[in-house]
Amino acid sequence: MATKVTVEQHVAEGASPELREVFGGIAAAAREIGKKIRLAGLSDVLGAYGAVNVQGEQQQKLDVFANGVMLRSLGKLASVIACVSEENEEPIPFYRAGAKYIVIFDPLDGSSNIDVNVNTGTIFSVQELSSSTADATIFDVTASILQPGTKQVAAGYVVYGPSTVMVMTTGAGVAAFTLDDNGDFVRSSESMHMPEQGPYYSANEANAASWPAAYREYLAMLLRGELNGKAYSARYIGSLVADFHRTLLKGGVFLYPPTDKAPKGKLRLLYEANPLALLAEQAGGAAVNGPKRILELQPEQIHQRTPLIVGSKREVEALQKAVLEAR
Ligand code: AHG
Ligand code: MN
Ligand code: MN
Repeated sequence: MATKVTVEQHVAEGASPELREVFGGIAAAAREIGKKIRLAGLSDVLGAYGAVNVQGEQQQKLDVFANGVMLRSLGKLASVIACVSEENEEPIPFYRAGAKYIVIFDPLDGSSNIDVNVNTGTIFSVQELSSSTADATIFDVTASILQPGTKQVAAGYVVYGPSTVMVMTTGAGVAAFTLDDNGDFVRSSESMHMPEQGPYYSANEANAASWPAAYREYLAMLLRGELNGKAYSARYIGSLVADFHRTLLKGGVFLYPPTDKAPKGKLRLLYEANPLALLAEQAGGAAVNGPKRILELQPEQIHQRTPLIVGSKREVEALQKAVLEAR
């Protein structure tokens, strides 16, 4: 029987032990969020909260609950200087000298799937204060929040499904942890690798008519089997975390291209695209916004959106080539 290694122990023994406290805070929050989701049908946390968030999207009760749990669990940590959340318009700074981590998160991803008992998730990205001032009560964290994805010191997600699984990286490969009956996230995979290619593509094809033509032509090319000699199957869950998790394990490509409704893409750079792009690259895959590598994009504002194509290298590089050639 392999020895039990928790995510906190894994981080403490890894390259960045000082991140242990942050992962402890995320694990504690994920336990609480997962429990609420599992029992959602028995408590009044399903359905709309009755407010609209900064994204102009209807907040679900569980979005608001998950956000509160993340803020409470991370906000009390000595090493956390600020949080950024999909559900809060502005960053939440904690005026705490000596703290240096900024935790940027989507507290509950896949809100449209909450009420139908389909996988949802929590996505997180950790940046470090790029230059601390002498007096920690008057610094501006914005510059440190708007660093490109290459500067992330950690990233990951928790997927709430038949199992509750945390997948994470601190820049030294990708590991997975399964929540056990004692409430520990126990290492279930020490080093995850994205398959080189296929068999799935994942996109909301209802938007295909408004994608740039290069994306439609790319998909037609995949379906003709011209990339790897055989056709693909379609899989689309509608929760980014679940669609990404399957892509990481099985290979293939997830695409959320520009659409008429979302010409800059729908997904958010800081707390959806960047963390998943770091995980993809750390696992041997790739992530682009069409022409460019996601991790090199310079963020301009904390809720900015981006097209996201992420998955196996073969498929992502073929898409990037198709988009660049169409210019
Ligand atoms: P969130 O629930 O955090 O707003 O994210 C929803 C996102 C993402 O999870 C998913 O990939 C995408 O919305 C689905 O969008 P469509 O319904 O337009 O396909
Ligand atoms: Mn999301
Ligand atoms: Mn969300």
